[in-house]
Amino acid sequence: METDLSLDQRIAQKQAETLAALARVTKPEELETIRVAVLGRKGSLSQLSGEFARLTPEERKTAGRALNAAKEALEAAIETRQHAFEQEQLAKQLDAEWIDLTLPAPGPRRGSLHPVTQVQAEIEALFISLGFTVLDGPEVETEYHNFDALNIPSEHPARDAQDTFWLTDCNVLRTHTSPVQVRGMERLRPPLRIIAPGRVFRNEEVDASHEHTFYQVEGMMIDRDISVAHLIYFMKKMLSAVFRRDVNVRLRPGFFPFVEPGFELDIQCLICGGKGCAVCKQSGWVEQMGCGLVHPNVLRMSGIDPNEWSGFAFGLGLTRLAMMRYGIDDIRLLQSGDLRFLNQF
Ligand code: DAH
Repeated sequence: METDLSLDQRIAQKQAETLAALARVTKPEELETIRVAVLGRKGSLSQLSGEFARLTPEERKTAGRALNAAKEALEAAIETRQHAFEQEQLAKQLDAEWIDLTLPAPGPRRGSLHPVTQVQAEIEALFISLGFTVLDGPEVETEYHNFDALNIPSEHPARDAQDTFWLTDCNVLRTHTSPVQVRGMERLRPPLRIIAPGRVFRNEEVDASHEHTFYQVEGMMIDRDISVAHLIYFMKKMLSAVFRRDVNVRLRPGFFPFVEPGFELDIQCLICGGKGCAVCKQSGWVEQMGCGLVHPNVLRMSGIDPNEWSGFAFGLGLTRLAMMRYGIDDIRLLQSGDLRFLNQF
């Protein structure tokens, strides 16, 4: 059948078939397949030129022209389809990536203050209003300021490597904010009222209620005739402000080498009102802080005459206070940097 057709006709037929095939193509990859099959060096159209040998020179000329014309027409058709695919793809992409520029922009995301920072700021504001000065001290402390000047004897277990991160040259990472008392007394002369919030370090096993790094607030007031009554007054004022209601406090004897007498101060449980619950372990009271009247040795070592001056001092666990205030039950969350936690404050 095929041989009945002239070469010209077969070229025309191939061209028509290919155009029809191109019209049916649904994926751009199929275009390349067709191009190779028809126009490639071994493609069906190219193979027809193998038959030119048996044509007369005149016929060969016309057949050659017809073949070239068919090739050009098909190339053009493929390119048109290719272009159409590209346009379609572009339109799809533009559609998918469309942005409504008329929508109002989302506002900047506001950060928030860390819960410890918030409680610290409140305590600072309260004490400033009571005439106290806020002091800062170094986190790398001398053994003298962290221990000796606070009347902590050299054999005291708190100096043990268990609790203290020892550095070189008799320096330590301060284990409490109490050394800032000493620096305050060295720098300011009595009467003085200072508080010193800050970060402290202990060589502790970390768990839900213990951290190697946490925050305290130290406080000290030195004046003439300071008594336990003054201490109680200021402590009640501070705790009522932090918990935003009146709190009842009680003092129990407690030993700290830098105060005499020394106390543990408890507040009546805010959860049960003193009746006894899980938080206060059925006792009705929650241990809050250490405090006392400044030991004469401590005053004397910093050049203050204990016969002329007296004072009270206290040390409060700021981290623990923030945990109580916000009902945080795992201390590790505070330094986790976890935004899911921090965003709540
Ligand atoms: N420095 C003590 C501690 O870290 C807390 C403390 C207790 C501070 C009694 C004081 C104080 O100023 O008088 O455990």
